[in-house]
Amino acid sequence: MRKRSFYVFIITYCLFNLKAYAQSGKEVTLASKPPMGWMTWNYFADNINEKDIMEIADAMVTTGMLKAGYNYVLIDDGWQGGRDNKNNIIADPKKFPSGIKALADYVHHKGLKLGIYSDASSLTCAGYTASLHFEEQDAKTFALWGIDYLKYDYCGAPEDVETAKNRYKTMADALRKSGRDIVFGICEWGGRKPWLWAAESGGQLWRTTNDVRDKWKRRAVEEAGEGILDIIDLNSSLAQYAGPGRWNDMDMLVVGLNGKKGPSGDLGGTGCTPVEYQSQMSLWCMLASPLAATNDVRNMSEEVKRILLNPEIISINQDALGKQAVRKINNETWTVFLKPLSNDEYALAILNRSDQARQTSYDFAEFGLNGNYQLKDLWQHKIAGTGKKWKGTVNAHETKVFRLTRK
Ligand code: GLA
Repeated sequence: MRKRSFYVFIITYCLFNLKAYAQSGKEVTLASKPPMGWMTWNYFADNINEKDIMEIADAMVTTGMLKAGYNYVLIDDGWQGGRDNKNNIIADPKKFPSGIKALADYVHHKGLKLGIYSDASSLTCAGYTASLHFEEQDAKTFALWGIDYLKYDYCGAPEDVETAKNRYKTMADALRKSGRDIVFGICEWGGRKPWLWAAESGGQLWRTTNDVRDKWKRRAVEEAGEGILDIIDLNSSLAQYAGPGRWNDMDMLVVGLNGKKGPSGDLGGTGCTPVEYQSQMSLWCMLASPLAATNDVRNMSEEVKRILLNPEIISINQDALGKQAVRKINNETWTVFLKPLSNDEYALAILNRSDQARQTSYDFAEFGLNGNYQLKDLWQHKIAGTGKKWKGTVNAHETKVFRLTRK
């Protein structure tokens, strides 16, 4: 009997300590929801400077972008000015005369966060100084400046997946050691299937495709450059890899670029219609992608605001459950996605891929949803019916998005 209580004591003691240990090691989940912000690249390419970025930050507050959830200002390639005599990476003094720390203080003061960019080789994609062999030093510098997010590119690095895993892990470890919570965005363009390993290498998000172009879709198989629909199709099978702190990044929103010359304007990027931009927003939200706007926030039309700032669509993207929508139907005309939401709700998206308006109807039972649901149309902002099915017309390239609540 005595022996038995001794063992019970030992086991209880061990369990207690194990629990305490597990709790002490518990870390905050970085990017528990898909990060939202604005990124310099598609609008400015590498012609960036602190004045424009501060103006954009101001506009993010005054236009309601920040209030809607876009809280990162993300500096992409082109900020670097080499290294000083101690090998510390420095900003280009002409573009950023006050330095990145001052810019971070400025955006923090507005309630925004600041992101920066580097690359896992010696030079970035646009040919600027990058971080290979300087990972710890650069991570410390970023932390000292007050950086909250790092996009880490892969130009100039070897093709093989093992090197990619290692180089990303080296930077992720360096960020963890830097003493600051810095979200880590992996950008190797999907070629090495990062959804299989990027979370383990320390990333909270990973690009799944090449750079998005400002177009609806490739016009011919041989046309280079992915459009909105191409990226949706590439991400449709990746739902199982997404979750809080681990997101499939479908690249930047091209909403409002309207065929602007620049990185997203080449390879057929001649611009999209408002309906197509609305579909990009709808499906980036359904597929739980990070949302990085790239339009000129200082000059937003009412139409662009309507799309980027729709709170009901954003709430689908930011839902606490953190699930990526699953593709339920896919044929020449229709692509249908279902996204489980918290509180036993669902978001249903119906995309008409064809070039004409078409009628359709769906029984929710086809998607495994039995029972009656109330449907809220998240673009019309009104109840679209209650029952077990939906019937209606969807315009060419339009995506209807409904929130389904059990009745
Ligand atoms: C790569 C990335 C882009 C952008 C540029 C910058 O092409 O995929 O998103 O960061 O580099 O040079």
